[in-house]
Amino acid sequence: MELNVRVGKLEAEKSAALALMLPQESANGDLRSTGFIAKTIHAGLITRIYRQKDFAGKLEETAWLYPPEGGAERLLLVGLGVWNHKTPKENEARQNAQLVIGNAVQAARKLAMEDLHLCLDGPLAERLGYRTAAQLAAEALLLANYRFLKYKSNLPNNEKPLRRATLLITDKQHEQEVKEGCRIGQIIGEWTCFARDLQNTPSNDLPPAKLAEIAAVKAAELKISCQIYDEKKLRELGMGALLGVGQGSVNPPRFVVLEYHPANARQENGPIVLVGKGITFDSGGLSIKTAEGMEQMKFDMSGAAVVLATIGAIVQLQLPLHVIGLMPMAENMPSGSAQRPGDIVRTCNGKTIEVADTDAEGRLILADALAYAQRFKPKAVIDLATLTGAIYGALGETAAGLFGNDAGLITRIKKSAERTGERVWEMPLFPEFFDYMKSDVADIRNIASKPSGGGASKGAAFLATFAEGYKWAHLDIANMAHPKEDKPLVPRGGSGYGMRLLVQLCRDWAE
Ligand code: BES
Ligand code: MN
Ligand code: ZN
Repeated sequence: MELNVRVGKLEAEKSAALALMLPQESANGDLRSTGFIAKTIHAGLITRIYRQKDFAGKLEETAWLYPPEGGAERLLLVGLGVWNHKTPKENEARQNAQLVIGNAVQAARKLAMEDLHLCLDGPLAERLGYRTAAQLAAEALLLANYRFLKYKSNLPNNEKPLRRATLLITDKQHEQEVKEGCRIGQIIGEWTCFARDLQNTPSNDLPPAKLAEIAAVKAAELKISCQIYDEKKLRELGMGALLGVGQGSVNPPRFVVLEYHPANARQENGPIVLVGKGITFDSGGLSIKTAEGMEQMKFDMSGAAVVLATIGAIVQLQLPLHVIGLMPMAENMPSGSAQRPGDIVRTCNGKTIEVADTDAEGRLILADALAYAQRFKPKAVIDLATLTGAIYGALGETAAGLFGNDAGLITRIKKSAERTGERVWEMPLFPEFFDYMKSDVADIRNIASKPSGGGASKGAAFLATFAEGYKWAHLDIANMAHPKEDKPLVPRGGSGYGMRLLVQLCRDWAE
């Protein structure tokens, strides 16, 4: 989608639709107390619709108005809910603003519109400032407008995405700020959509070697370093766990290392390392999954997709940070050459793992990646992985599971999550979870031998064993990576979850 910023008169700008975001009227029904409506265009018309109670400005309410001819063909009113200088709190205000812009996009698309103008003057800018309002708006427009259409031959008109959106302001004084904010939001929004495209791509078109190649192409465009390790190199490095997972597939595994190290990188104490699980398809291997829902396992590379996209955004935002992305990639398949339950593999730091269940493969490939991360003497390591079905049971599709070995890092991640609305919930790593993973024959087992329950924490405890000597956090995104329900900003399918949170974390770190 093309995104523009325009300075112009609200009543004169031609467009298919102009969206106005309006607050809920105050309890006494006095519209003037909100102060916003009187200042906008067609105040008479808008006051009438409030008076007649056809629209009250409630959060996520929408209404169409048809103004006298001249400027916009339609006005789209979208409700911001209660909205004044202190309610809701800032993070919630940011999220509500984006939600409401998402509603505007969905409403415009239902009428098969090609373009939408969005007025930033008024509540949004007054509360959040023009720069932030523009960033959030650009991001929300792109996120809401996303659809995965690459494999669709035909589309009904009302399923076509918008082609253009314009952020409209009336005073040239704010133009620069709006352009800057828009640029930031556009970078974040476009890279999130890039991650979604990778997630949604079926496994037959995205084997490990192809995913690695896409990372290399992007790295070349971004002018950052990219290394791809093939099977020969993986054997040299001793990544037996990654090789074991990949050995049942005709599509061989890969390990990708991306590095962004700008001359002005701030941190003295090592790079930030982002690690993403890249299982391009998870059949379970010989511990095969049931057929129902197995098609969803194309999304098992979501962690890797989000890490690649996050690094892309960080580079384009030119954050003064040293960042490394590690993406272990494999296809988990049953075959004559597949890894067997009971096999013992050795990771690149020399530890042995009893593969009691070949379907607990994410932690195996992450074990090699986390062990490998040690050589960078990182300031922090954060991994993203669609690791366990158990995180669904614990949290539904509401928040990713957050685990870690450092309270400071966990607090930082929680803050970025609250700021962006990509919710996380801290989960425990009690000592028992480590005990459960003990093996009779190797250093560790990849699944617990007893008792049942606590699956997400057991998986995280396994990972923690390999995240030695540095600050580490793990996000189990299995419940967030491919939601089953459409939301205004996140259509069902690949969500790009984690990307906005990680970019925010890095922006905070760069300050
Ligand atoms: N990729 C799956 C986790 C998953 C499940 C993601 C459902 C999205 C939806 C992972 O590799 C897996 O199979 N985990 C097993 C672990 C078990 C064998 C200990 C699981 O959760 O059942
Ligand atoms: Mn699995
Ligand atoms: Zn998996």
